[in-house]
Amino acid sequence: MSTSNHEADSLAPGEAPDRKQGAPGGVIVLFFIVGFALSMAFGWLVFPKLLYSEKNQPFDFNHKIHMDLVDSGCESCHVFREDGTYAGVPTLAQCADCHQDVQGESKDEEVFVNEYVANEKEVPWLIYSRQPDCVFFSHAAHVKMAEMECKECHGDIGESESLKVYRENRITGYSQDIWGENIAGIRKNTWDGMKMTDCGKCHEERMGSKGPCFQCHK
Ligand code: HEC
Ligand code: HEC
Ligand code: HEC
Ligand code: HEC
Ligand code: HEC
Repeated sequence: MSTSNHEADSLAPGEAPDRKQGAPGGVIVLFFIVGFALSMAFGWLVFPKLLYSEKNQPFDFNHKIHMDLVDSGCESCHVFREDGTYAGVPTLAQCADCHQDVQGESKDEEVFVNEYVANEKEVPWLIYSRQPDCVFFSHAAHVKMAEMECKECHGDIGESESLKVYRENRITGYSQDIWGENIAGIRKNTWDGMKMTDCGKCHEERMGSKGPCFQCHK
């Protein structure tokens, strides 16, 4: 009792006992908040940018105008082979008939005709949806048997006027599109991504189970 009185006596009137420690404590809290905010910003905004390198397609391609020019819709260019496997992106032969000469005004078509058609060189398209080699995927099972639309997995690229930038993960070498979510866990795509969890989620909904590993990994 006497000690506490003594301490109180040594303070000037109106001065709070912890005022002196309060100032550096506040600075520490401030530093913590600023540091925390900076590392969050780094993790959410800067790190994803560093993680992906951006590549452009060899030249742009307009799906929309081509859909008005071809006879059988998507299948004019994206076909199932005789054995049921999917041919994926079209080969030069599927374009060459229409593009012996430049048809329109676009620079992209000039590049296509002069560099690729004239030299009979296949276009090295970057595939947004390309999976690791260990993954088995069948378009026939989904498009023919389950009657799914391309959009459900690929989004609306088939109606687009321009190809988006291709983002490659610097560590894994895979396209950002099969990643599905960004680093903060926020889904950017409105369609089902192509990550293992996306495949599993739909299989569980439509087939009742995620399925054994070997269904997708052969
Ligand atoms: C005139 C030919 C042509 C037609 C018709 C066409 N496409 Fe394409 N498509 C292409 C070419 C060329 C690419 C290559 C660009 C690339 O690498 O993404 C492509 C790429 C794609 C891709 C990207 C594959 C990937 O992961 O990189 C999807 C998905 C696609 N097309 C869907 C469609 C759909 C859906 C339709 C019908 C609505 C359609 N396409 C009609 C020529 C065509
Ligand atoms: C049925 C004929 C036809 C087929 C098949 C076709 N094209 Fe075209 N393409 C055209 C015509 C016509 C234009 C010019 C349209 C315009 O500029 O108004 C064009 C324009 C283009 C352009 C410039 C506009 C753009 O898309 O950015 C590119 C590049 C192109 N085609 C690439 C291809 C490729 C690659 C294929 C094969 C996958 C292909 N085309 C298949 C008829 C065709
Ligand atoms: C259930 C989801 C799903 C549906 C539905 C689907 N795709 Fe795909 N698609 C994929 C996956 C996954 C890949 C990558 C396959 C791989 O790399 O092994 C792919 C690859 C592709 C490619 C690139 C193939 C290559 O490597 O050259 C094209 C083009 C494509 N799809 C077009 C289409 C079109 C057109 C439709 C509609 C007729 C369609 N897809 C429907 C999931 C789907
Ligand atoms: C939006 C729904 C959906 C998505 C997304 C989806 N699938 Fe499927 N998948 C199905 C359905 C439905 C079937 C059953 C098709 C049938 O046999 O009728 C199926 C069947 C399969 C089969 C079995 C084929 C066979 O007959 O052996 C494999 C393998 C497969 N999917 C792989 C994948 C992979 C890999 C992905 C992701 C890249 C994926 N699927 C994404 C709905 C989906
Ligand atoms: C419905 C299809 C499906 C099933 C079932 C599935 N996977 Fe996958 N798996 C994928 C797809 C698609 C990828 C590539 C995309 C990704 O990394 O998410 C993948 C990627 C992987 C990878 C990373 C490979 C690499 O090169 O990056 C491993 C490891 C893996 N799976 C293990 C498993 C194991 C273990 C099981 C069983 C418990 C399993 N998977 C079941 C579809 C499937």
